[in-house]
Amino acid sequence: MTSEKLILKEMKNDSVALLKINRPKALNALNVEVLKELYNELQEIEKDETVKCVIITGSGEKAFVGGADIGSMKDMDTVEARKFSEFGNEVMTYIENLKIPVIAAINGYALGGGLELALSADIRIASENAKFGTPEINLGIFPGFGGTQRLPKIVGLHKAKELIFTGEIITAEDAKEANLINKVVKQEELMEVVTKMASKIASKSSIPLKLAKQVINRGYEEPIETGSLMETSSFSVCFSTEDQKEGMEAFLENRKPTFKDK
Ligand code: HXC
Repeated sequence: MTSEKLILKEMKNDSVALLKINRPKALNALNVEVLKELYNELQEIEKDETVKCVIITGSGEKAFVGGADIGSMKDMDTVEARKFSEFGNEVMTYIENLKIPVIAAINGYALGGGLELALSADIRIASENAKFGTPEINLGIFPGFGGTQRLPKIVGLHKAKELIFTGEIITAEDAKEANLINKVVKQEELMEVVTKMASKIASKSSIPLKLAKQVINRGYEEPIETGSLMETSSFSVCFSTEDQKEGMEAFLENRKPTFKDK
């Protein structure tokens, strides 16, 4: 018997991959198996130099991801809970540091571990029906896939504490207001908008894309002097590429550049 895949992979075009978490009946809840499959797919994508942007979304109309799987967590002891949290954190950090940009297409509930997954992406686009929150406090726990660390950096300490302490679920509009997401779009337009954005990103040279992501992520944690130094070093590397010459020549010749990722 072949078991159904927990992560569906589809190419939207030659350079944009879509990963869809496929447990719609359980609101795409994350258990170890889902996390492992997601991790494997991402590692495969990272090896494939032709893929330049990844979209992560959930199956079904209702949820991006409803959280970590409560059924699989209920009877965990301390050691198992620690392993689960460590592994979830490892996957989220892997996503955050994936060389290529990652867009979360949030098509419904993004709760608990589901919100933490979205927080690991570079860009978050949500449909109008999406809902956000960290309801872990209602289960006698608190976020364990990096939410206590990423949420304050994204929405500020005060808003992160409000969300984590109350467990309140907020609308897409409120999430936009709180700077939790980049954009809210009509439900039926979500994949079109996200695919368009991903394709736009993928049409750029992969060299400055990867360097910029690395410098932004690494520099964010550092004093400005260190960050600026990283920026200068990586910025100047672009000048050893054909794509920099092509980009600037194309501008001066008033035409569109053709990038070769070289
Ligand atoms: C397991 C889940 C689930 C979850 C939903 N389901 N969320 N199963 N884990 N996180 C299942 C339900 O049990 C149900 O299964 C089916 O999905 C549909 O959900 P319903 O509850 O019937 O839908 P609805 O009434 O519309 O309510 C939607 C909802 C609710 C508000 C999102 O499902 C809900 O509150 N879910 C839990 C959200 C949550 O607490 N997330 C944080 C988890 S802790 P059946 O079989 O009955 O049809 C976490 C920790 C991360 O994420 C860190 C770990 C280290």
